[in-house]
Amino acid sequence: MMSHAHQACLNPHCGSTFDLGQILTGCPDCGSLLDIRYDWDQVAVPGSLKEFEARWSNRRQPLDFSGVWRFRELLPFAPAEKIVTIGEGQTILQQNDRLAQQLGMNPGRLFLQYEGLNPSGSFKDNGMTAASTHAHMVGAKMTACASTGNTSASLAIYAGVSGLFQCVVFVGSGKIAYGKLSQALDYGARTLQIRGDFDDALARVREICEQHPIYLCNSVNPFRLEGQKTIMLRVLEGLGWEVPDWIVVPGGNLGNCSAFGKAFAELKHLGLIDRVPRLAIINASGAHTLEQLVNEKGLAWNSGDPDKATVGDYYDLMDEHNERANTLASAIEINRPVNLEKALRAISVCDGVVRSVADQEIVDARAMIAAAGFGCEPASGATIAGVRRLREEGLIGSEDRVACVLTGHQLKDPDLTVAYHSTDESLRAKKLTPNGVTETPHANPPVQVDNDVDAILEALELQVASVS
Ligand code: F0G
Repeated sequence: MMSHAHQACLNPHCGSTFDLGQILTGCPDCGSLLDIRYDWDQVAVPGSLKEFEARWSNRRQPLDFSGVWRFRELLPFAPAEKIVTIGEGQTILQQNDRLAQQLGMNPGRLFLQYEGLNPSGSFKDNGMTAASTHAHMVGAKMTACASTGNTSASLAIYAGVSGLFQCVVFVGSGKIAYGKLSQALDYGARTLQIRGDFDDALARVREICEQHPIYLCNSVNPFRLEGQKTIMLRVLEGLGWEVPDWIVVPGGNLGNCSAFGKAFAELKHLGLIDRVPRLAIINASGAHTLEQLVNEKGLAWNSGDPDKATVGDYYDLMDEHNERANTLASAIEINRPVNLEKALRAISVCDGVVRSVADQEIVDARAMIAAAGFGCEPASGATIAGVRRLREEGLIGSEDRVACVLTGHQLKDPDLTVAYHSTDESLRAKKLTPNGVTETPHANPPVQVDNDVDAILEALELQVASVS
């Protein structure tokens, strides 16, 4: 095992550390989350981020091709021969002036980091390559996760392609989009549909992994978040290594935002960036635990001492009222985000803000993003809905440089997309209306037409050609 890296308890009052060979998803001493920490003075980190660019010319080597591992000096926990990569992270930052204009921003200021281009179609592959690598380091033979869909698709593809371990995925029944469920099935994961929601599935899989030799791949696994840090490295790369003003990301279980905060804290510590961007975490209003705790209850990182009673009381109230998360952005339909404390730390590092947006705003923003070039899944729509909100509040200015992370591919949830564009009232009544989506201003409905050339020409508003 690498001697310059270890696992450490997030709670500064505990501070326990553990070596990399231990399989842990929480501190055995106090129950807090774990971090991967490095003795940076023992790691050969490049003097500037630009040095990473040289890797591209060596991309026939899998580690230099991977959008995660070509930054391996910044997540140095694995010996090269143990790294499990399937070519993840070939994603780039794209400037989008059309959307910028719709949001009242100046050209060249709005960027989309489209993580839907990963092998399993979501950002999860950035983390799963790292968790799979650690699973390989410790010789795990069976892995597991709970999922709203993308984590299971990602774990299933890593297990299937690498052949190093088997996997079992736990999903809430009826709570997963078909595009994602089909992936887990296709890639050969043993798939359990738990009668419950994501939070139930996660609680069960954690219990089972604690009692049996099964390696847990949810984002409580600290190695996963090391891989997800590289999404921010690619954002910086896309900006010529300049730091943007804002990073905007949907918040579900809060792994991504936590990883981003850690990335920026480390880059700043290493002198590789001179300032950190601000972070905007966007909840769906039907799953707004973080937003409520931070904005209504004043919960904060507080130097590692967040007020646990505030969180406990909030969860007790949720249980008392039998309040369960409910949003069309099923990927982020989560009641009790497991990375809450790490997200609070990220907010503190990045002077972050949290907002929640309604499903109507999410599905409209998703359609706008798709029409401007990138099909993404509903959760990703929260980013642009969030930017719109922060523009209205005046927090994001027209000249600010903003990078939005589109977390998953459009084809993950085609049912919702088709319902949005459809004129079929029964479809809309089933998929959209129950979640308060009553208008579809960006709809592009298909046109029904008879199997007849004249009828088709008429539908296309073309003249029927006269036969001479
Ligand atoms: N966007 C997509 C497409 C997701 O699949 C998820 C999480 C998120 C955003 C939220 O990210 O948890 O880091 O805040 N999906 C998980 C899953 C929960 O099981 O696939 P987060």
